[in-house]
Amino acid sequence: MNRDRKTTQRRIAILGSTGSIGTQALEVMAEAQEPWHPVLLTAGKRVAPLLKQVHQQQPECCVVIDPDDLSAFETAGVQGTDLRVGEQHQLSAIAELDLDLVLNGITGAAGLRASIATLEAGIDLALANKESLVTAGSLLKSCASASGARIIPVDSEHSAVMQCIADSDPATIRRILLTASGGPFRGMTRDQLKDVTIEQALQHPTWKMGPRISIDSATLFNKVLEVIEARELFGLPPDGIEVLVHPQSIVHAIVEYQDGSSIAHLGEPDMRVPIRHALHQGTRAAGQFRPLDLIQRGQLTFEQVDGATFPALEIAQVVMDHPGTTLGAVLNAADEEAVAGFLSGSVGFLQIYQLVEKALQQHSPEDLVSLEQVIETDRETRERVRSWYL
Ligand SMILES: NC(=O)c1ccc[n+]([C@@H]2O[C@H](COP(=O)([O-])OP(=O)(O)OC[C@H]3O[C@@H](n4cnc5c(N)ncnc54)[C@H](OP(=O)(O)O)[C@@H]3O)[C@@H](O)[C@H]2O)c1
Repeated sequence: MNRDRKTTQRRIAILGSTGSIGTQALEVMAEAQEPWHPVLLTAGKRVAPLLKQVHQQQPECCVVIDPDDLSAFETAGVQGTDLRVGEQHQLSAIAELDLDLVLNGITGAAGLRASIATLEAGIDLALANKESLVTAGSLLKSCASASGARIIPVDSEHSAVMQCIADSDPATIRRILLTASGGPFRGMTRDQLKDVTIEQALQHPTWKMGPRISIDSATLFNKVLEVIEARELFGLPPDGIEVLVHPQSIVHAIVEYQDGSSIAHLGEPDMRVPIRHALHQGTRAAGQFRPLDLIQRGQLTFEQVDGATFPALEIAQVVMDHPGTTLGAVLNAADEEAVAGFLSGSVGFLQIYQLVEKALQQHSPEDLVSLEQVIETDRETRERVRSWYL
């Protein structure tokens, strides 16, 4: 490692650079006052947008895991960029490139190994990939405490909670309230949900995101993942974390303290804001955003979650009740597979709940001890869920 750099440039890896979080992170970096260098860009399969980024950003290394156009990637011949294929190269590049920060914007449990590799290498992790904490929170936290690296939340609600806590004593927190927009189907009945289409489910009312998180926002499984993420990040028991439906997505989270004060974080829905906060590590760097106009907004409303229609929180209660077990990996893998089935037209919207519930019921939880155990649980669960609908 070369820590004697001549410039003050900060060296960053953007994992999942072609996705919704990845592209917004590159936008935020482009506006920064201090010099950033995207040293490593990675993506899952889409070679064309990745190579476009490589030409613009000129990273030292670029990795694609399972390219959709291997020959275009191999023959791209970008001067100064080492082009590699396969997950192992993503992991070795994280360890070798003398990075200051890794932003993990990979979708799904596919991001877990990279999170662990980052923390093991003692590099701060700006974490959008909530699945890492849901599937293996205790392992991530032990890696972070062993190496001294930090886990910095990028998810808007968790960035909001972190800012509401600031330097307050965590022991004085009574409750965290996480808000949910309610998704595109808020107000519908179970009967109406039977026939919703993929296109309707992807139309999130307030955020523009990748397909998996958009469907999870429609079922409310995204909020389940976020409650678990909050538990891992802020150390509160699940009954200290509540979910409120707030259709305008202006209040991102509220932290209630034992002295009766409740601190809320507000802003127009814009992921560039929490990404900027994570990249600049709390220095309030200037950047583009949509200013909050509360007069024009007129009203901020709050409702209880309709658990009878959207039973995600209830189905996942067993996961909340057994922290530090393989149930988190089962929940995530079952939901990822069910969502993939929905997006391919093989699974109905309401069937997503059934598949996740059945996977949780059929699993005998074990205490989390290793990354291999999480990966094996993930693999077994996916196989089982696929066998139920394919
Ligand atoms: N989007 C948001 O506003 C938002 C907000 C909060 C949290 N998050 C979280 O951020 C994460 C990413 O969400 P997203 O909406 O940005 O997803 P997305 O738009 O679907 O992008 C996913 C990215 O991950 C890449 N990828 C897939 N498998 C990979 C692998 N094995 N290794 C490296 N890269 C891989 C994809 O590459 P290809 O393009 O080649 O497929 C793409 O670049 C999720 O955990 C989500 O829950 C997102």
